[in-house]
Amino acid sequence: MEKIDGKAVASTIKKEIAIKVQEQVKNGGKTPHLAAILVGHDGGSETYVAAKVKACEICHFKSSLIRFDNDITQERLLQEVVRLNNDDDVDGFIVQLPLPKHIDEQAIIEAIDYRKDVDGFHPLNVGRMSIGLPCFVSATPAGIIELLKRYNITTSGKHCVILGRSNIVGKPMATLLMQKNEPGNATVTVCHSRTPNIKEICLTADIIIAALGQPNFVTADMVKPGAVIIDVGTTRVPDASRKSGFKLTGDVLFDEVSAKCSYITPVPGGVGPMTICSLMMNTLKASKKKI
Ligand code: GUN
Repeated sequence: MEKIDGKAVASTIKKEIAIKVQEQVKNGGKTPHLAAILVGHDGGSETYVAAKVKACEICHFKSSLIRFDNDITQERLLQEVVRLNNDDDVDGFIVQLPLPKHIDEQAIIEAIDYRKDVDGFHPLNVGRMSIGLPCFVSATPAGIIELLKRYNITTSGKHCVILGRSNIVGKPMATLLMQKNEPGNATVTVCHSRTPNIKEICLTADIIIAALGQPNFVTADMVKPGAVIIDVGTTRVPDASRKSGFKLTGDVLFDEVSAKCSYITPVPGGVGPMTICSLMMNTLKASKKKI
């Protein structure tokens, strides 16, 4: 079994991006500029946004953090989105989610110019991805595709079983793996909470992508020997022995499953670190104005 080291790959990619940015600027191109809107002071969101700003530094990008209080009106937030859409220096921007309950998240996402939607959440990007047009792909599935590439894990002709059908992981993952491309060209099965025979389906999988948010759901008896296991789960399970008070737990029972599979992503340190990397790759792409 080989452990897929997402942390190391993410670090390598950020260094590669920094070199590309230096070349781009040397050749008269633009310094990529990512802006982030953060509403309120949610602890998780603060951490994520700080990590995104830090990644921009490593990649030699310019970044702008725009903060609003929790009581901002939807109208004012929409105004800010329009301002960023029209700001020629900003190549891409994100609105950190979740937003306060009085704001319609979908309305905000749909107000973003899809050519600057580096999160890949806008329906135009989702639609463009599904028919293979240039687009921004959401961070987690894009990060998984990159990990498969970097570990030379072929997907062509393989049976990929995806557990979970969310809009930001399960569905785009299925789309990417079935497309006429490499990685891609796979036969894809999507399982979810109403699938009766998940164990039997998993046993036929060459690649399992677990994105249900159910800690330790995938056990060794569900895995074909030699399968590739990608764990997207990141549930905070209470753990009094830790300073933080919780243990980040994946959807796969690692100790058991790792003894049976060919490759596996750990939690933490697998898929997680790749997500910010995907955002950086999307921002670099945005700065080239190719979408
Ligand atoms: N909140 C948690 N993950 C994300 C993400 O990838 N993008 C945005 N905008 N908000 C998030």
